[in-house]
Amino acid sequence: MNPPAGIPPRPTADTADIVSAFTATFRREPSVVWSAPGRVNLIGEHVDYNGGPVLPFAIQHRCYLAAAPTGERTVTVRSAQFPADTTTADIADLRAAGDSPARRAGWGSYVLGVIWALGQVGVYVPGVDVLVDSSVPVGAGLSSSAALECAAVGAFCDLADADIEGPQRAVIAQRAENDFVGVPCGLMDQMASTCATAGHALLYDTYNHHKEQIPLNVSDDGYEFLIVDTGAAHGLVDGEYARRRTACEQAARLLGVKSLRLVADLGPQQSAHLITAITDTTLRHRARHVVTEIHRVHQAADALKHGDWPRLGTLMTASHNSLRDDFEVSSPQLDTAVQTLLNAGALGARLTGAGFGGSVVALIATTQTQTAAHAITTTFKNARYTTPTTTTAIPSQGAHRQTPHT
Ligand code: GLA
Repeated sequence: MNPPAGIPPRPTADTADIVSAFTATFRREPSVVWSAPGRVNLIGEHVDYNGGPVLPFAIQHRCYLAAAPTGERTVTVRSAQFPADTTTADIADLRAAGDSPARRAGWGSYVLGVIWALGQVGVYVPGVDVLVDSSVPVGAGLSSSAALECAAVGAFCDLADADIEGPQRAVIAQRAENDFVGVPCGLMDQMASTCATAGHALLYDTYNHHKEQIPLNVSDDGYEFLIVDTGAAHGLVDGEYARRRTACEQAARLLGVKSLRLVADLGPQQSAHLITAITDTTLRHRARHVVTEIHRVHQAADALKHGDWPRLGTLMTASHNSLRDDFEVSSPQLDTAVQTLLNAGALGARLTGAGFGGSVVALIATTQTQTAAHAITTTFKNARYTTPTTTTAIPSQGAHRQTPHT
């Protein structure tokens, strides 16, 4: 969630690029290439660690990862984005780390973490050379780290000849991030990056693990999902994220339940009533966001299935307001982007991902996109904010092996 920011994304990365870069770097061809996408979350923010449902889709920006065994114990990880930066490790040390490895920072540790996490489920990756090339913007709240982890899990399973299904691969990727890198993220990003399908949003229930692919046919009606990357660094994210998580756990304990999801299941009225029993204002507001957000996800999934775009838009904006006021994870740039998009005619807009910076997703008529993008650029310029980037999100395929011509 917090790799080094500031490297502009490459607009595309593909198999031919990474094969030739790998060959130039390591003087031989890779034996396997995988890619995995970033994601945007339509709705269901900060609920994945509370047993709630989420509704993300995979985007067109992908992380490509090429690898070949070395025949020795060394792991070497390099990146086209950070050419001066090489991460190395000894396979034996990763194995010897047991189930509580020393935390390691830096982008390369996400790859080492995957080797470690695979070892924890009995999949032993050999010494390996790895090259990564990603077009997922870093620090934009679009899950560049999940894309890296999920591409790594796929490639390393191939090298170790392990046949592991998508959802379990996502859990292994999350374990790498939680226990090796030390970021207490939920499972949403890895599930989206691994299990999303092109043209669909993934409704994933983190409580009962139910998955449903919902067609995203907004373009049939002249709409699109626009992503505005505010370009604002979200330096606070890790500590604040952990604090939000702890607050939710405390609120659940006060209400005598294992997770706030169980409160939401009581329905809007009863859960709202129950939450008033939390006397601590901050905890009450955190819980109120989680519970109302879970209700909004159910309604949004329904709106999506019925092509009710105005309703979906209204729910997205309500989600943003709740994240801003009750969960307090927004920022001036995110609020400005949301308001500017709404003023420009978007049906709805909200911050996506952890917050504190990063991106906004909006549902907007394709005919209004240009005007909206222009309004965002002007408003940000006048406010002396970093120049934002605007992209139309294309619902894309989850992680997969690349064949030579893809
Ligand atoms: C980050 C985490 C996810 C999720 C979101 C907030 O992206 O990695 O697990 O908690 O924040 O919804």
